[in-house]
Amino acid sequence: MADVQQVYDVIVIGGGPIGQASAYHLAKQQAKTLVLEQYTFKNQLGSSAGVSRQFRIPYPDQYMVQMALDSQPYWDELQALSSVPLRDTVGTLWFGDPEVQSTEGNIKEAMDSMDALGVPYTALTCEQIEADYRFSNLPEHYTGLFQADGASINLPATIQTLLDYNQASEWVSLLEESPVTDIQRIDGVFTVSTPSASFQARKLIIVPGPYVNNVTRLLHFQVDATYWNMSSAYFKKTDPTIQYPTWFAFQPPAGASGNQFYGFPEVSWDHPGYIRVAPDFVMTPLSDPNQATQEPNEQELAYTAEWVRNNMQGLDPTPCFTSTCLVALSTIANKEMVIDFAPTYVPGGKDIAIYATGWAAKFIPLLGEILSQMALDGSTTYDISHFQMGHKFFKAI
Ligand code: BEZ
Repeated sequence: MADVQQVYDVIVIGGGPIGQASAYHLAKQQAKTLVLEQYTFKNQLGSSAGVSRQFRIPYPDQYMVQMALDSQPYWDELQALSSVPLRDTVGTLWFGDPEVQSTEGNIKEAMDSMDALGVPYTALTCEQIEADYRFSNLPEHYTGLFQADGASINLPATIQTLLDYNQASEWVSLLEESPVTDIQRIDGVFTVSTPSASFQARKLIIVPGPYVNNVTRLLHFQVDATYWNMSSAYFKKTDPTIQYPTWFAFQPPAGASGNQFYGFPEVSWDHPGYIRVAPDFVMTPLSDPNQATQEPNEQELAYTAEWVRNNMQGLDPTPCFTSTCLVALSTIANKEMVIDFAPTYVPGGKDIAIYATGWAAKFIPLLGEILSQMALDGSTTYDISHFQMGHKFFKAI
């Protein structure tokens, strides 16, 4: 039970996967922790919506390849707590126009980074991609790579594993339907108010996904971000033998279509007999998360269905079981993660660790460690210099 009298070591604002992973690591450090979630745990209203996410090693930047490698032992540690496989290791297939720079990066640059770090992968020609992976009608100049450690993350099982651990822990209290309405700091202690009660803590971790500015504005600053309400659909298998790895198609925009798509294998934990394919673009980015609806964009789904019809074998190109996921992204080209302390003009800013923007599912357990260290120690042993960009993206209001 949450305790209004207690001064917690840390209040985690945001009970999604990264918030739960932060609480998990705080509990391991025996830090008294309260997690506040504005909706219900496991809700489908933020960036963790949807049932699968890609785990991958290829990145154009060596530090990101290294981070993906470094996150593996953290996944293994979490896996030891669950009888359900958290990652279905089917490999990562990247293919497309070798010149294209996407939000995922560039195929050749990713090969160079993996070469530099000794990560094994197979380089592929267009013929090999079509023959071995069941894609069709690809332009001849397309190239690709296959990296065997890529996986489909079972997101519901990952969240459940963290939630089960935290619920059982004497160090963690969990409160749902508790939006934060006010934050004050007096004599080195934060008072965090919700509609039903106020709670006190020495440190804060702010990790509410796309709703980050609803919290930071209580501290008189906001994160400069754009919001993507991303569409996704399942496609029925017409060939029961068909299977795909996790994949991403690097293509130049075509007219109004961003023309980049990604997908998953058939997964045991959702819609068996169907395969999920999604566009990695939005027709209209949002300036505020409150503009999002849970309705996928029809045109984005139509482009995705056209891609499936033209380029994937063994699937009925009718989108089924559609969904959306809402993510806050930084306004730089590669949509880098932003992880930092609150600005120094915020009272107690150094005692507030923030995960502000970015695609992070593949790093969930490692980010929990990083944020818990930032909160407890005022620094992290992990090199986050590439993500510490609050000076650029946190703006006083
Ligand atoms: C995902 O795993 O959700 C994802 C993969 C590639 C691009 C965007 C999102």
